[in-house]
Order: sequence, then structure tokens, then C-alpha cells
Amino acid sequence: MVEAAENRGGHLAALDAAWEVDPGRLSRSGQPLYSFYVDRFAGNLKGLRDRLDYLQDLGVRWLHPLPLLKPRPGDSDGGFAVADYRSIDPRLGSMADLETLTADLQTRGMGLFLDVVCNHTAREHPWAERARQGDPVYRDYYVVVDEAEARQRDSELIDVFPDTAPGSFTPEPEMGGHVWTTFYPFQWDLNYANPVVFAEMLEVLLFLAARGVQGFRLDSAPFLWKTQGTTCRNLPQAYLLVEAWRAALSIAAPSVMLLAEAIESPADVIPFFGDRSAGCDLAYSNGVMTALWAALADQDAGIFRLVLADTSAKPARAAWVNYVRCHDDIIWNALAGHGSPDDLHRWSRFYGGQGESYSLGQSFQAPPGVAASTNGMASALVGAPAGSEPGTPAVARLKLLYSVMFGLDGLPLIYMGDEIALANDLSYREDPERAGDGRWLHRPAMDWSLALERDPASPAAVVHGHFRKLAQTAADLDGRGIGGPACPQDLGPPEVLAYVRSGGERPLLVVANLSDHKVSIELPTGFDGAEDLLEASRMTTGPITLPAYGCLWLAGAA
Ligand code: GLC
Repeated sequence: MVEAAENRGGHLAALDAAWEVDPGRLSRSGQPLYSFYVDRFAGNLKGLRDRLDYLQDLGVRWLHPLPLLKPRPGDSDGGFAVADYRSIDPRLGSMADLETLTADLQTRGMGLFLDVVCNHTAREHPWAERARQGDPVYRDYYVVVDEAEARQRDSELIDVFPDTAPGSFTPEPEMGGHVWTTFYPFQWDLNYANPVVFAEMLEVLLFLAARGVQGFRLDSAPFLWKTQGTTCRNLPQAYLLVEAWRAALSIAAPSVMLLAEAIESPADVIPFFGDRSAGCDLAYSNGVMTALWAALADQDAGIFRLVLADTSAKPARAAWVNYVRCHDDIIWNALAGHGSPDDLHRWSRFYGGQGESYSLGQSFQAPPGVAASTNGMASALVGAPAGSEPGTPAVARLKLLYSVMFGLDGLPLIYMGDEIALANDLSYREDPERAGDGRWLHRPAMDWSLALERDPASPAAVVHGHFRKLAQTAADLDGRGIGGPACPQDLGPPEVLAYVRSGGERPLLVVANLSDHKVSIELPTGFDGAEDLLEASRMTTGPITLPAYGCLWLAGAA
């Protein structure tokens, strides 16, 4: 750590210095992230550099590629089984390409987040190979139990992939027992009870930070610590490990951010921000994302209000990453503390396309009795068949979801392809390496002909134009004196979703109609005659009418 701190010169030290005098950096408005697989978006890292103008034009501030470090050969769970944390996947380029990219980004005022798969390594990682060869030092990097203990522990744990990878242990005769594998059998959980493992992963973070990476997505953070008699998710020690990494980075590479990947309820995610000392700077607002979809299905904003209220317990120094879709399934069970089992099953069925539903999503595996999670691109979940007309309700629903999300406090995330209403990708079923994992349904290749489509009336162009407007309007919020956390509002009609941000000089009311019919509402005090920032129009006084799936960003008077 000391060595890394001493070696951190030049443009990286300048970044640190700039961030250190700017404590408000995370609350600054308009810093969208863009999440994508490098190969599916741009072929490789060189191709990615050629697409930076596209991203910058969209308003993107942070690149958030999914794993790009060297994976195991064959199926690697989309790169989430890393064989070498210090090399780039050779199909995508080299470490030199990564450094060129980070330098390019810095000159554009952009930056790079990198996925660090810290909970497990590939079975083919040299640590695991040495462990299999019988080296006791490396054996202690992993968790090995006998068959009886594996069975007993399995009865306490919740399977992540109950259909394709049931149980959390894999027999490995060379290891003389069963290796802990929370995810696929080729993803070996690291043993963080061994402090050397913590230090190894810190060295990985410092190595990559020295290449110009400005943030790390800590993959599967809830699973870092294991204690008998628990589900081994979100244990206090997992939160402390993250705080310890944060403390080390604050000494050696202070401007580098940590983003918790914890797809859990707000109550389980918030401790990742740290308690007595700082933890993660950012975390995905998974609960709000899931509740937004649920509210849309029910045409009732109640669940959204409940969950949004719970996110306010976040410390001011940290920020949410808000999103609508990502590369994983939507896990309804994350709302188990807010909705009844019937609610969870109803949302699951709706987006799985069962019964009366516009959704073209598909159900994904879940343990027995638990509501199946859902796969599908946002445009499919809102019911857009490919090539739909721009005026359809599906396009309006997609615009609504992103409008609600972009208005929240925190950093908005665009999932690759949503900006052009990209459809589901069924081709994974023909690929033996991907066919077994339905999440590939929503990991399509970028359609550059759609992205560069210039017919302004096409659905892709309409949605793209809307995303650009959202990014620009969000970026202007600070300048307009608008800020502070989003507080849910109940304006009366169940189908009206609303929140207010009143931490700045002027309040902002975001109001959306989740239903397929128009609805009339009275605006709360302070918003009579307010200005709609998205349409640059002024409201008249008195009740207003929201069209089906309409969403307004209303700025009140100072
Ligand atoms: C995270 C990733 C997911 C992956 C899992 C195991 O949840 O987002 O895609 O399968 O971790 O690494």
C-alpha cells in the first residue's frame, strides 16, 4: 500500500488531488454510467475507443464495462470467473490498451469503472491450481469442507442458480473435499477468513488503480464472509472487509471509488456504505429498480414509495447508482421485506409474460417456493416487439422508466442498448456455452445501424433522443439549484408515482403516470405554475392532466 501510494504520480496524483478538494463529487448531477460487455458493444478495447464520441454525445461520464480481465477458457459466466487479475482478456486487448483507454477518457473528462470479481476466482486461477496441487498456503485461499458439512451448510444457504448449479459446494477430489462454490462449480469462493486473501485482492485493486481505473465494482460483495448457522449473505464482516479496502485505497489511491454489487433490499445494502468509517462510495439501488418495475406492472406506485423511503438512510458521503436494467435477472425476492409472497409471484408472472401481460420477458431460476426472477431487455419487458412504432405504449413505458430513474439523486446508469430500445437476443440458445443461462437473453450485441439511425420518427431515434435529453437535463440540475435526496410523495391516485427533491434552492417534483389512461392531479404546494424541465414548458395553475405513461420533471419556484 505504501509502495502504491509512493508510486502514484503524474496524472493519477492530479486526479487524487482534484477529488480530495471536492467532497461533493458524488452528489454532482449528471454523471451517467454506461454498462456494457466490451465485445458486444465494440468488439474490443480499441473498438471501444472509437465509440467514445457516441458515448460522450449520449452524456455518459463513466464507462462501466462488465468483466474484461482474463477469464477461464470456455464458459466463464460472462467473464465472472477470472483466471488472471493482472491481464486483460486477450480477445479484448492488452493492459497497454486499457491504459490508453483510461488516458483517453481522462482527457475527455470521463473515467473507467472496472469489475473486480472479488468473491471468487476461476478454478483455473494459479491460486486454485496450486491449491489443487496440494500447496497448503493456497489451499487456505479457498474454503474446503467434508461431505457432511457441505450437506449441512447447504441446508442453511440459499442457492443462486438452483437449476443449473444447485448447492454451494463442488466435490474436488484433489482438494480432499468439497470446495465452496456459491455460483457455478468453476467459481471458487475465496476464504476471507485468511487475511492473506484480503491483502492479495487489495494488491489487485492497487495494480489496476495504477493503470488509471477510477472505480471498482465489487462483484458479489454480500457473499464475502461465511459463518456457520447463517445464510452467509450480508454478514457484518463483509461490510468491514469493504471498509478496510476503502481505508487502504484512501491512503494509496484516494480518488478511486468502490461500488458495491449487492442485489439485496436497501436495509442489507446500506451497511456497505460503511458505518463508523467509509465503506463503498456507491451501491446499486437494487430495491428501487425492482420496485419501479413492480409499480409499473400494478399501475400502483405504493411499493415504489415504500422502497424509496428506505433508501434515505444512506450516509450523505455516498451515492446510489440508479438503474432500470443490468446484465442480470430482476430478483423479485429482493422485495420480500416490502411485498407479500403473492405480490412477488404476481410481478414475476407478469414480467415472465404469463397471463395478461405485455411483457416479453422470461422467467429465470429461483429456489422452490421463491418467485422466479425475470430476464429480458427493458424494451422487451415493456412489451416492445422489434420495429414497433414510436407512439406505442411500450416506447412510452420505456421513456417513463428511464425518466423516473434519471431524476433520482445519485448516478444514473444506462444499460447498453436501452437507449435504442434494443430487443431481446434469442441467439444465445444456439450457442452451447451460453444456452444454459437465460440471462444471455438480455446481453445482445449492439446494433449500430439502429444506434446511428437518423429517421427521427423511428422508435430507436425517439428513445435515443429522450435519453440524451434526460442526461442533459439531469446535468443542468445543479446549475438550476436543484438537489438533495428524492422523497416519495403520495399525490392521491394510486397510479401516480411522485417524488420531490428539496435539498437545493428550488424544489423538483418528478411525477409519472404508471397507467394506460390519462389522470388528473393537483400539484402540491410550491409547484403551481411550475416549469417542466423535460419539455421546457410551464404548467398552468390548478389541476394538471398527465397522459398515459407521461412523466414530468417540475421545477418549483426558488
Ligand atoms: C454477480 C454478477 C453476475 C454473476 C455473479 C457471479 O452477481 O453480476 O452476473 O453471475 O456475480 O460472479
